Amino acid sequence: MELWYPWIKAFHLIAAIAWIAGMLYLPRLYVYHCEAEPGSVQSETFKVMERRLLRAIINPAMAATWVLGLWLVWLSEAWRAGWFHGKFVLLLILSAAHGLLARWRKDFAADRNRHSAKFYRVVNELPTLLLIGIVILAVVKPF
Ligand code: HEM
Repeated sequence: MELWYPWIKAFHLIAAIAWIAGMLYLPRLYVYHCEAEPGSVQSETFKVMERRLLRAIINPAMAATWVLGLWLVWLSEAWRAGWFHGKFVLLLILSAAHGLLARWRKDFAADRNRHSAKFYRVVNELPTLLLIGIVILAVVKPF
């Protein structure tokens, strides 16, 4: 195993934490954004916050997590392991959730949000559940 394997893993975790933190914060912003009148100062402020969070934090963190994670897969041959197959399914769901959050941001930016505050509250729970599953699979490696 390469000497710098633990370094790649450390930066993989830093990127994953930033990605998940953003995925938890963005739907929270949507909950509050729902309650702001379209065209109001609050609504315009939320648009700026949402755009910056996605572009400056979430997108680069997701890209870095994937690149570093796939590098670890390559070095450790994790693709052979059952736990990784489980983790991979959860990662696909997490990445799809990322795509949906990005689409909803565009709807808000155009004052065309189609969902309720309650909807975004429920959506907010998904990254939490995925986080629990991903970390248990990667650390405990139950199968
Ligand atoms: C995006 C694609 C991802 C890929 C391809 C990937 C792949 C990997 C691989 C191969 C390892 C090395 C496991 C080992 O050395 O035993 C690893 C470690 C780890 N990953 Fe990921 N990962 C990804 C995303 C994530 C995310 C989003 C999280 C957290 C939410 C996460 C959490 C962890 C943790 C906690 C470890 C450390 C396991 C340990 O050494 O105990 N990963 N990942």
